Amino acid sequence: MSDAEIIAPATAFETEAAVTDYILAQEDKDQLRFLTCGSVDDGKSTLIGRLLYDTKLIFEDQLAALEKDSRRHGTVGEDIDLALLVDGLEAEREQGITIDVAYRFFATEKRKFIVADTPGHEQYTRNMATGASTADLAVLLVDARNGLMVQTRRHAFIASLLGIRHVVLAINKIDLVDYSQERFEAIKAEFETFAASFEFETQQAIPMSARFGDNVTGKSDKLAWFQGPTLLEHLETVKIGEEELSQPFRLPVQWVNRPNLDFRGYSGTIAGGTVSVGEELVVAASGKTSKVEKIITPEGERNSARAGEAVTVTLVDEIDISRGDLLASSVSRPDVADQLAAHLIWMSDDAMLPGRSYLMKIGSKTVTATVTEIKHKVNVNTFEHVAGKQLQLNEIGFCNLSMSVPVAFDPYEVNRQTGSFILIDRVTNATVGAGMVWFALRRATNIHWQALDVDKSARAHGLGQTPAVLWFTGLSGSGKSTIASMVEKKLHMEGRHTYALDGDNVRHGLNRDLGFTDADRVENIRRVGEVAKLFVDAGLITLTSFISPFQAERQMARELVGEGEFIEIFVDTPIEECKKRDPKGLYEKAEKGEIKNFTGIDSPYERPENAEVVLKTVGRDPEDIAEEVIEYLRANNYLVSPVFVDEGSGI
Ligand code: ADX
Repeated sequence: MSDAEIIAPATAFETEAAVTDYILAQEDKDQLRFLTCGSVDDGKSTLIGRLLYDTKLIFEDQLAALEKDSRRHGTVGEDIDLALLVDGLEAEREQGITIDVAYRFFATEKRKFIVADTPGHEQYTRNMATGASTADLAVLLVDARNGLMVQTRRHAFIASLLGIRHVVLAINKIDLVDYSQERFEAIKAEFETFAASFEFETQQAIPMSARFGDNVTGKSDKLAWFQGPTLLEHLETVKIGEEELSQPFRLPVQWVNRPNLDFRGYSGTIAGGTVSVGEELVVAASGKTSKVEKIITPEGERNSARAGEAVTVTLVDEIDISRGDLLASSVSRPDVADQLAAHLIWMSDDAMLPGRSYLMKIGSKTVTATVTEIKHKVNVNTFEHVAGKQLQLNEIGFCNLSMSVPVAFDPYEVNRQTGSFILIDRVTNATVGAGMVWFALRRATNIHWQALDVDKSARAHGLGQTPAVLWFTGLSGSGKSTIASMVEKKLHMEGRHTYALDGDNVRHGLNRDLGFTDADRVENIRRVGEVAKLFVDAGLITLTSFISPFQAERQMARELVGEGEFIEIFVDTPIEECKKRDPKGLYEKAEKGEIKNFTGIDSPYERPENAEVVLKTVGRDPEDIAEEVIEYLRANNYLVSPVFVDEGSGI
């Protein structure tokens, strides 16, 4: 491309109107989002620097700083080190590696570009996934001297997993192999063989030297043997985004727009396909249908709209739709299920534990979800399937997930937006996983909870009491079981119907298959929570004494029963005191290393933050402590016989 085609740098604008014209021109242009990836030292930052430099989008002050920095940190002698332009963080410069995802913007006459620069070293699958989730195309950099590396394969795999359909194999540093066509052809052929199973729609290999600018934005005499486009030509012309338009129509409802009683519109960004006035739509979860009455966009009313546009749609009929619903084409409906199979990329330092409850954000809806099973993990270097019980940071697993309620979605293959989700840690609120739906699992959708005629309230009424779980938590030796059994006796003497579940006992039967790894503890508490729920349903006051060291599982157990039915009792005994008591001699063994993963020694205990009852035990008589629990129950009306209103009898 010639200089004349390149947009002038921002510093050249002379009037405000010129700036406005420039911005408006950018808005009309079609846009390509791409990411660059590859191994450390393959030259990603230099390549992006080269694109920015050649398209003259570097400001003069940046250029001056760059010249100065090149002298200080640069690795290319007298030339400007373009990589420094992109490697923003000081720390990265010192280490010579890129450690975060950086987004840059540039534009030419034909297109505007958003580029995500993702890091190359081993443990950063997470960042790569972040950068790739919205990208249309991936530029995979290869050092011509080294050819394909483990990381090139890994990145190609993740790109394909994330639904990127277009790749450029940028065979860089071709100057260092004497611009050898033979070398280029060999690497290209190797890539084609290995990427055959990834089903990329376009796959373009380009020989280049980012450092000298050969074949990046301008053709090079030294690469006269290469007939294909330069990188920029290819990025400007590759056809993308057409698949989105041929998808079935999807509109995740972000909010219900109701300025007055006469107007009710559903707003959101179209996540796939097109929609026209008069077309029949379905609310995925409820199956209710209606026809489109109006389509309103920021520019006014329209007859149709397409993927990527923000719209408000009104319907002919008044049907029940709320935020989080998915409006879809009625002839091509999404899946609605409460279980699905998905690839999950784990992004947290805390391992993913099956059975733990996470928040799942899927489309505009948020529900709770657990991973019920890891079918296999994927070794991202060899693509082999390996067995695993948990997912560590940057690992990818093929998993079954179960949601608290049925949700609407598509397979990721069909729609990258309605087919993807994130998992959020319920305690820290951090995004911990990214998922791509493979298919819906229908198995359990048909197993509805039996609505038995004799229900919880009927049973509790029969027993003349208010059922609840008294959930004792605390360190081993804190006194949980002792106090719980005293509380149970006191309740029993009052004629209450009770049942006690205790860690040591349950681990001999129901949970005999579980040990003390984090994953096993999560499963232990999940099962106990479910059993406690059944006992509450039976109308009993249920006492559980388990260390239950994790806040997330205690919260999960709480949510299994109704409001007010879960009483968390923290037996707050300092570890020094527990060690002194050491009723089973376990602390002594743990400190000698004879027992592994012992709570408080080499396994964590997360203190409850909102327990209903906190019991201090040091120097107190257990009888008094048990009485304190009874007093709590009495003060909060658990021990008065409830009056049940029978809705049918008019009492
Ligand atoms: S939990 O962490 O999964 O809730 P749970 O309450 O069922 O634990 O079991 C704890 C009991 O198991 C302790 O009171 C102790 O008697 C015994 N135990 C054996 N090994 C361990 C260990 N590594 N950590 C904690 N408790 C252990």
